[in-house]
Amino acid sequence: MTDSIQFPSNFLWGVATSAFQIEGAWDADGKGPSIWDTFSHNKANIIDGTDGDVACDHYHRYKDDVALMSGLGVDAYRFSMAWSRVQPEGKGAWNEKGFDFYKRLLDELEAKNIKSHLTLYHWDLPQGLQNDGGWLNRDIAFRFAEYAGEVARRLGDRFEAIATHNEPWCTANLGYGNGQFAPGVADKKQAIQVSHHLLLSHGLAMQSMRATNTKADLGIVLNLWTADPATDSAEDKRLAEAEWANSNLWFMDPLFKKKYPELSLELHGANAPDVKEGDFDIIAQKNDFLGVNYYRREVMSAEVPPKKRTDGNGWTDMGWEIYPQGLVDLLTKMKDIYGDALPPIYITENGMAVADQKVDGKINDTARIEYVRTHLEAMKTCLDKGVDVRGYFLWSLMDNFEWNSGYAKRFGIVWVDYDTLARTPKASALWYRDFIARQRESRKAA
Ligand code: FCB
Repeated sequence: MTDSIQFPSNFLWGVATSAFQIEGAWDADGKGPSIWDTFSHNKANIIDGTDGDVACDHYHRYKDDVALMSGLGVDAYRFSMAWSRVQPEGKGAWNEKGFDFYKRLLDELEAKNIKSHLTLYHWDLPQGLQNDGGWLNRDIAFRFAEYAGEVARRLGDRFEAIATHNEPWCTANLGYGNGQFAPGVADKKQAIQVSHHLLLSHGLAMQSMRATNTKADLGIVLNLWTADPATDSAEDKRLAEAEWANSNLWFMDPLFKKKYPELSLELHGANAPDVKEGDFDIIAQKNDFLGVNYYRREVMSAEVPPKKRTDGNGWTDMGWEIYPQGLVDLLTKMKDIYGDALPPIYITENGMAVADQKVDGKINDTARIEYVRTHLEAMKTCLDKGVDVRGYFLWSLMDNFEWNSGYAKRFGIVWVDYDTLARTPKASALWYRDFIARQRESRKAA
């Protein structure tokens, strides 16, 4: 039972959000527009026709939100900075009022003893840089390094950890591959080139942050999954191997082995990226941690429609398969492949979309509790197998703007009423609070 599972006493328990999904105040106090402002202002791009203009209004309600977190007893909060809030054009002048917001937020978190894990880029590129070609333009990587250096110089010591990117796979493949995310380009070759520029920008940003001697741990957050064949057929197995290489190895091999996986280069053929001499030396900076966002596994099938597998625990409201064992498969496989080159790991996102209902003022999201519970058990198995996992951030603190799904998909452990913006902790929030409290008890006893 998870209730009696004992994690190491210094294990970090947290919740996660991102700027565009919760802040709102999209044009307040000198903030420049981001590609997600532009993208969501075209109603056709978002399933429920909504945008992020107000979102959870966290920009104005951050004190209440920090108080909520404090009530849950979390050790740490993972959030992102909106680049165009602190540098409206993504180049040139800094916006002091933008930095002031994050300082106020940090003051509040510090007052409540909550550690801050920052993500520099959670998908909201300043529109000014998109006008210069966005991530397809290699020069943007250098703009990103400037931004990272400035944040580390000003605020570095106030963060326990700073991640450069959140899920570059999504930026590349959903932003440029299928066009479901901003900036809405559907072009495979561009997506692959973008992924290279994102990795390059990570390396350059690590260099510029290290140069400030910040005390924060520095790293990157990747979304990773195992890819299992739907059947034993050679074709399904081949697809699973390709998926594993193209999604996971594609981002980890450059970081830890200074190369792209052979199989992917072969499969990409003429779409392979333009890599300049020395790029891999820049990309493969030492990472103090690797953030892993784990939600599901991918089942690969050559059949049309694709054959599903029934050995998982069902599917979420996103249609994602619930498969806690995948976390064990994933992390142990990574340890086998990269060995000592693999830095300490944080599970920086894990959680579930549920079509929650508020009944008599209560949200009894038992499916979410079960999802988190089984994934915590899987995470404990990883620790027992010797994987160095240091902390867990539940996605998400509260319901928020779920990208092209708008507000229709709820991932929060706190319910947000989008008419009044009132927050109500769901049963899962209370469960998580009690779980953390029990870990604390045994911490004290230790
Ligand atoms: C991840 C994103 C996060 C959220 C969750 C559900 O891919 O990083 O912003 O949308 O999925």
